[in-house]
Amino acid sequence: MPMVRRGNGSLRAPENFRHSEEVSLSVEPSSRRVVTFLSLRREETMNISRRNLMQGAVAGLAAAMGARAAPASLAEAKAPSASITAAAVAPVVSRSLDIINLDLLQEQARLVMTAGAYAFVAGASGAEWTLRENRRAFDDFPILTHRLAGIAASDIDLGIDLLGHRLPYPIIVAPVGAHTMVHPDGEVATVTGTAAAGTLYQSSGASARPLEEIANATLGPKWFQLYFNTDVGVTRSLLERARDAGYSAIIITADAIGPGNNETFIQLGKPFPPGFTFGNHDPRHGGGGDFRSQKIDLTPEDIGFVREVTGLPVIIKGILRAGDADTAIKGGAAAIHVSNHGGRQLDGLPAAISVLREVVQVVDGRVPVIFDSGIRRGIDVFRALALGADAVAIGRPVLFGLAVGGPQGVQSVLEHLRDELSVAMLLAGAKSVKDLSPDYLRT
Ligand SMILES: Cc1cc2nc3c(=O)[nH]c(=O)nc-3n(C[C@H](O)[C@H](O)[C@H](O)COP(=O)(O)O)c2cc1C
Repeated sequence: MPMVRRGNGSLRAPENFRHSEEVSLSVEPSSRRVVTFLSLRREETMNISRRNLMQGAVAGLAAAMGARAAPASLAEAKAPSASITAAAVAPVVSRSLDIINLDLLQEQARLVMTAGAYAFVAGASGAEWTLRENRRAFDDFPILTHRLAGIAASDIDLGIDLLGHRLPYPIIVAPVGAHTMVHPDGEVATVTGTAAAGTLYQSSGASARPLEEIANATLGPKWFQLYFNTDVGVTRSLLERARDAGYSAIIITADAIGPGNNETFIQLGKPFPPGFTFGNHDPRHGGGGDFRSQKIDLTPEDIGFVREVTGLPVIIKGILRAGDADTAIKGGAAAIHVSNHGGRQLDGLPAAISVLREVVQVVDGRVPVIFDSGIRRGIDVFRALALGADAVAIGRPVLFGLAVGGPQGVQSVLEHLRDELSVAMLLAGAKSVKDLSPDYLRT
């Protein structure tokens, strides 16, 4: 698909773009080698100019990133053999990334993702006010440092305990669906990178790969996010499969009770890759039912149902009101996940960080509080923890790392945030994440 460059330098699909691409995949075992998968239009063979364009993009990307892969390896980039249909994605590499910041990584990801995949991941609902507000509102909480605190770098302790898991740092992966939009291995690649980074993976009910394959790809901690199905038998089956596959908690996403309104993605014709399926419902993998038949009239009783079927702790995700957190805990929730879904559901919601403290006050230590929506820097993690979150989850940046660096790119994103948090702690005079409180902020 030829890309058109906008005035602001961004890439967009031409008006007549239909997502009808087939992609040939040839997997290179060497993760150090830059491997390029070039998309091939179904009706036409990729022409030389397109190939040059894509290889130029890879070269530019590698140069821009100071990538560890030697530029010479770019010459080994492969043209497709047009035989296997899979996610229509641009260059896929597996390498660790030297990340300056996650905004720059997003720009790099934009260069290697299709316009459709980029719109799907980066976009949000409506006019995207909430998406922007999620970032802006962190500035409402300037950090107030403690001086003469006698803390050395070796004193910094980022470790936490979360629902029975000891984690080396309080940053986990948010449930995000459809990873084959950006990487042919989908969630298997993401969970591999997450495990390498030593942290916890939340597997989306909307994953492209089935939950068992994702579970089998990691020895690390993992939770399963459920989309309730209108067919109770389907819901029960998903829960039993998740329990049997070793997921140690179930997330009920309470805010995704209707289609998000991502206008750019809709304009592009919702270009899911050809042959895309929601893996958990795919009969070829033991699934059933229709992913889209979601039960949306959720109540606290549904928490009890999940607990009864699985015996696992239940996390309620998508909480923005203190009262709703209280209701969820009284209904049996073992953790509250404050989130506005990264602005992907209802535009006009407040920034998630702006409501965190109210929720934490009502939760009052009864259960852990997880936070997501808008975290891009270590100081954002710091502020969320200071406002009372026990851990934070990361959505889009993980996918951008996946697009640019494959599993190692995911690992790089998580470790980058970990390292930035560590520096923020040191410079703010905070020894342990457990010590963080609003006292470190000017609120
Ligand atoms: C592409 C994409 C797909 C998502 N899919 C799901 C999902 O299947 N289930 C869910 O609970 N949240 C989903 N989310 C929301 C994330 O879990 C998380 O709340 C959000 O991305 C956090 O904001 P951030 O991207 O700014 O970190 C998705 C987010 C993105 C970007």
